[in-house]
Amino acid sequence: MAPGVGLRRSTVADLPFITTLERLPENREHIGQWTDDEHRAAIDRVGGREHWIIERDGAKAGYLIAYDATDRAAGIYVKRILVADKERGTGTAALTCFLDDACAREGVEFVWLLVRDKNERGQAVYRKLGMRRYDPPAGEAARWDAAVDPAGEGVFRMRIEASAWRRSRAR
Ligand SMILES: CC(C)(COP(=O)(O)OP(=O)(O)OC[C@H]1O[C@@H](n2cnc3c(N)ncnc32)[C@H](O)[C@@H]1OP(=O)(O)O)[C@@H](O)C(=O)NCCC(=O)NCCS
Repeated sequence: MAPGVGLRRSTVADLPFITTLERLPENREHIGQWTDDEHRAAIDRVGGREHWIIERDGAKAGYLIAYDATDRAAGIYVKRILVADKERGTGTAALTCFLDDACAREGVEFVWLLVRDKNERGQAVYRKLGMRRYDPPAGEAARWDAAVDPAGEGVFRMRIEASAWRRSRAR
């Protein structure tokens, strides 16, 4: 696990870092693109959204966005995770920090996300942390789609139960 990786709440002052990173051609193929206003709303925690800066050795190294959809029985959804310098353990360490925090929250049963079929690196990170592909029954899928983001073409869901995460950390 990469040492010196942590999360802190994003602020409006972080916006240039966030949007510059998000809009790089190398990142566009893996993640959606937001306007500054959409990022600002998540920074302001509108509608259960959360915006975190990933720091490594005290410097900005990426960001993570999540939605708390527990009030809609749709768990916590990791909307986006992006790191600048890839394959140095930063993403794994950052998601570990987030799962530690999210899975310790009252009433959180699971954490999930959507990943593109072609994003093998992302899938490898999620699998390494114990997340597994999850294809919910139609009714549940419709509820999750409505609560956060619909799973479109070429995308699938991965998730981990909060209790399984806590058990894996206790070992
Ligand atoms: C996905 C992302 C957040 C992961 O963060 P990271 O710091 O690069 O990842 P890590 O270094 O912690 O781990 C990468 C792992 O993927 C593995 N990997 C890399 N390319 C791979 C491939 N093509 N197939 C399988 N595994 C691969 C690495 O071997 C490593 O696993 P290991 O530590 O067991 O060796 C980061 O790469 C990123 O920002 N990508 C662009 C945006 C994105 O895809 N976001 C996720 C959208 S769902």
